[in-house]
Amino acid sequence: MRSKLVVGNWKMHGGTVQNRDLLNAVIAGTEGMNGTSLAVCVPYPYLSQAQSILQATHVRWGAQNVSQYDKGAYTGEVSAAMLMDFGCRYVIVGHSERRALYGEDSHTVALKFRAAQSVGLTPVLCVGETLDQREAAITEQVVAEQLDAIIELVGIDALAKSVLAYEPVWAIGTGKTATPEQAQEVHAFIRGRIAANNSEVATGLQILYGGSAKANNAAELFAMPDIDGGLIGGASLVADEFIAICDAAKN
Ligand code: 13P
Repeated sequence: MRSKLVVGNWKMHGGTVQNRDLLNAVIAGTEGMNGTSLAVCVPYPYLSQAQSILQATHVRWGAQNVSQYDKGAYTGEVSAAMLMDFGCRYVIVGHSERRALYGEDSHTVALKFRAAQSVGLTPVLCVGETLDQREAAITEQVVAEQLDAIIELVGIDALAKSVLAYEPVWAIGTGKTATPEQAQEVHAFIRGRIAANNSEVATGLQILYGGSAKANNAAELFAMPDIDGGLIGGASLVADEFIAICDAAKN
């Protein structure tokens, strides 16, 4: 039985005062949630703050991006080893905002995935289709291509030490959540594709759903057999919403 995981993706939001209040509220509001893991992926400048507030608690933390290189003349980049220095457990790779706005292709995402794992970070790999792609009925093809680029570079076994997130681009920040059935269909496709290579890896892999997940739709999403939790954007910035989503993930 896979356990549930809820990860907050703060994106480019926050400030030291509001972070402190939010994190303290989340810690207090999620205490004793046995069986469910939670984490927040914060902007780089707040990793130190997240570490100091969260280190003795049940809430883990991570980053939203990482360099594919391990060190060198890469102005503005942050390496996986640096994230480990701040106690990160997770790093998001391949978020659709980075693919669309910063030109990250699937090969670059695969290099980032590998860089994260090389130091012991758990990559949270995002895949998902745009609205045009869904309407053209190529969702599975798109997701398969995104997934295969990773498998080609790191091999199927490496997926065992990662988390996947299915994030339909049309559902991100739009208030338009995928229905539980729509999400389940793609989650099952992803798990099936991995199972074709290695059924043990497929069975153990946590596949999160992301895209306008909120307190009022989380429980029905998390009830689907292949949805193992959520990657939460906007709702992770509101303590009560995020706590309610974590509550909905309780096994
Ligand atoms: P929203 O929950 O704001 O739609 O964002 C989802 C997301 O992109 C999480 O990574």
